[in-house]
Amino acid sequence: MTISTADPLDHLNYTYRSGYSLPQAAYTADSVFRAELEKVFYANWLFVAASREVPTGGRLTWTIGDESVVLARTRDGVLHAHHNVCRHRGSRLLPDGASTGRTIVCGYHSWTYGTDGSFRAASDMGESFSQRCGTELSLRPVHVRETGGLIFVCFAEQAPPFDAAHEAIEDQLRPHQPERTDVAARFHYRVAANWKTLVENNRECYHCSPNHPEFCLSNFELGVNGDSRTNAEYENALAAQRPRWLEQGLSDRQVSFPDGGFHRVARLPLRDDFETESMSGKLLAPLLGDLTRPHAGSVRVVTLPNSWTHVNADYVVTTRLTPVDVGLTDIDLTFLVREGAVAGTDYDLAELTTVWKETSEQDWELCERNYAGIRSRGYEPGPLSPVTETSIVSFHEWWLRHLGTPAGPRAGAAA
Ligand code: FES
Ligand code: FE
Repeated sequence: MTISTADPLDHLNYTYRSGYSLPQAAYTADSVFRAELEKVFYANWLFVAASREVPTGGRLTWTIGDESVVLARTRDGVLHAHHNVCRHRGSRLLPDGASTGRTIVCGYHSWTYGTDGSFRAASDMGESFSQRCGTELSLRPVHVRETGGLIFVCFAEQAPPFDAAHEAIEDQLRPHQPERTDVAARFHYRVAANWKTLVENNRECYHCSPNHPEFCLSNFELGVNGDSRTNAEYENALAAQRPRWLEQGLSDRQVSFPDGGFHRVARLPLRDDFETESMSGKLLAPLLGDLTRPHAGSVRVVTLPNSWTHVNADYVVTTRLTPVDVGLTDIDLTFLVREGAVAGTDYDLAELTTVWKETSEQDWELCERNYAGIRSRGYEPGPLSPVTETSIVSFHEWWLRHLGTPAGPRAGAAA
């Protein structure tokens, strides 16, 4: 099929076919990627870090595309988020990563700000300058919300609604108290794949059985969101485990991308009464928060477009996606354990990270192979499974909605 149109977004509009993988340009065109940064990433709530990664007095900087945010928690415990842009001539203030300090000093001409973003000082600016100080030259704020021990920001002037996600995440995570944790380990990856292939891969477990032996020990690959394969074992596990969750005040409510929502929150049963996602079935670290028993299943929090988090009875692992280029995505995994737990005494670091580190690395390899094929002239969109991959269709619809391509011509375009 030949479509001639100068605008790649318009091209997508003519070639997208519901229930199929996306047209090649959706994954490979620079112009689509630039449009995504504007319309998908800068316009939505983005996961940045676990609350614990920005302790009182701490700062964390994260850059995505042209945007960069400084998170800082002042001594009163208040979390601030500001553009990482000096109000003098616009220099980046801090490099990515964690830092400390009561002030932020621009490396160019030493303008100085408080960690709450307030302007503090600038030298040699002349007599009249001091009148223009204060809020006028404070760092520009970025929307920030903190919920269930997770920090989200939005770079848009007007942020989309967050309250429904807040309510759903808090409801499930409160007993685990993920904000009362310590970072046990971090892993950073650069994956040679378009970010959407990583999200698509996360949204289905069609690939789990042949690829994730460690994950499948504790997890059901069937009977989960968007997967209509019947599985009596999963249903039985859910029926048996749910009363134990409720007994210790854990919510069993499942929320899956409600209308206009960007979030999925669900407590899932683990296989064969596994106490956590481990190789042995046993806990790997002290119980989190208020939990008194290890029967908590595993809570999954997915937020589009850039994160998924597993909250087990004894550890949390967050995954953050940062698109770098159309075919390059940075991934950060962070493992958190109960506050004060000591490596080597209360947990073994290698054991703690085995399941999700192995599974993640298997996924990155799958996505790189997938993306290598997508870039070929041999690629054309293939049919998604109506049994196991309907969550990918939902993701595509969400993506298209944000990209703003008109709905009209798509439906029958590629038929
Ligand atoms: Fe920051 Fe000049 S650009 S002090
Ligand atoms: Fe996977």
